[in-house]
Amino acid sequence: MSALDAAAFRAAMARFPGAVTIVTALQGAERRGITATAVCSVTADPPSLLVCLNRKTGTCAAVRAGGRFNVNLLPGEGGPTALAFAGAGGVTGEAKFASGDWEADTDGLPVLATAALTFSCAVSEVLEAGSHSIFIGQIEAIRSGEGAALIYEQSRFHRLEPL
Ligand SMILES: Cc1cc2nc3c(=O)[nH]c(=O)nc-3n(C[C@H](O)[C@H](O)[C@H](O)COP(=O)(O)O)c2cc1C
Repeated sequence: MSALDAAAFRAAMARFPGAVTIVTALQGAERRGITATAVCSVTADPPSLLVCLNRKTGTCAAVRAGGRFNVNLLPGEGGPTALAFAGAGGVTGEAKFASGDWEADTDGLPVLATAALTFSCAVSEVLEAGSHSIFIGQIEAIRSGEGAALIYEQSRFHRLEPL
């Protein structure tokens, strides 16, 4: 069986819509966060989800070191924040948090005040897969906000609309 090339994979995945989140963590006292669509529910018992993070990112290192992460589901108007946390304009590390209205949860991890949902997770398992680490997180708290999620598809952000 021949391996598919990365360009074909990327082209196909670009058509696969994803809910846009900011995964956040703490590296010591410093905040870290990246835009991530590779987020998926795992099981309801125990309540858990997974995130796939590129090992090159500071957020991946922070989740590994601290054993905790938050998944902030962006609201429909969260496009600019998604771009900032994807590193647009070369912004990285703490400086990314200039975009969006950020608070701290009881563990000090960043929570987006305007998020449609925030899941607070403790890492229960880590799997290595190529360039990425897959963190399975047991969900310890859910904070529910307003509005529908921001969606990424065909290299663009979209707001959900009912049919
Ligand atoms: C829509 C979108 C979805 C992304 N999803 C992921 C993801 O699931 N996992 C990941 O590791 N990187 C993902 N990225 C890339 C990271 O956001 C990007 O590499 C990171 O923010 C770079 O930050 P840094 O320069 O501070 O390391 C995504 C980027 C975009 C624009």
